Amino acid sequence: MKTAIIYATRSGTAENCSQKLSDMLAGESTVINIKKVSSPDLSGYDAVIVGTFIRIGKVQKEISEFVQKNLKTLKEKRQGVFLCMGAREENFSEHLSRNFPKEFLDKCKAKGFFGGEFNLERLGFLSKMMLKAASKGKPQPHFIPSNIDRFAKDFED
Ligand SMILES: Cc1cc2nc3c(=O)[nH]c(=O)nc-3n(C[C@H](O)[C@H](O)[C@H](O)COP(=O)(O)O)c2cc1C
Repeated sequence: MKTAIIYATRSGTAENCSQKLSDMLAGESTVINIKKVSSPDLSGYDAVIVGTFIRIGKVQKEISEFVQKNLKTLKEKRQGVFLCMGAREENFSEHLSRNFPKEFLDKCKAKGFFGGEFNLERLGFLSKMMLKAASKGKPQPHFIPSNIDRFAKDFED
């Protein structure tokens, strides 16, 4: 099975998770940054996984536009989605349903909550300030390798 992992990142977590997921998948996989390749050619792939971060409740615009534009093509392939986010898993389903069409989510073979990271050194001043204010007093998030592992298994099952 040939899989395209199409991701968006701002501070590296979703990129790191995409690479780790690619390493865990048994079949052939390609990791594609949607910011660098805005309209990836999906014709050579049996499966597509979309991965992104959440910021102020939203995914990267390019990712939601990609899913919307390719809904029909994606339907013909094995689909999966993962999120990198600072909030806990109980917010995961809500973030998914607010950002992606139901017809895409209903067809996803695997949906991954991969946790998140605060990579302050890669953030601009404003983002850093917002993050510090929003996360004050809360535990630091971390990405969850075991969830990536489980996602890979569920996806290829
Ligand atoms: C300005 C800003 C806003 C954020 N807003 C949210 C949010 O609304 N919900 C959430 O769960 N995480 C939020 N996060 C945390 C990110 O989703 C988390 O840091 C993630 O790992 C970033 O992924 P990336 O490194 O691939 O960009 C926010 C982070 C920043 C910097």
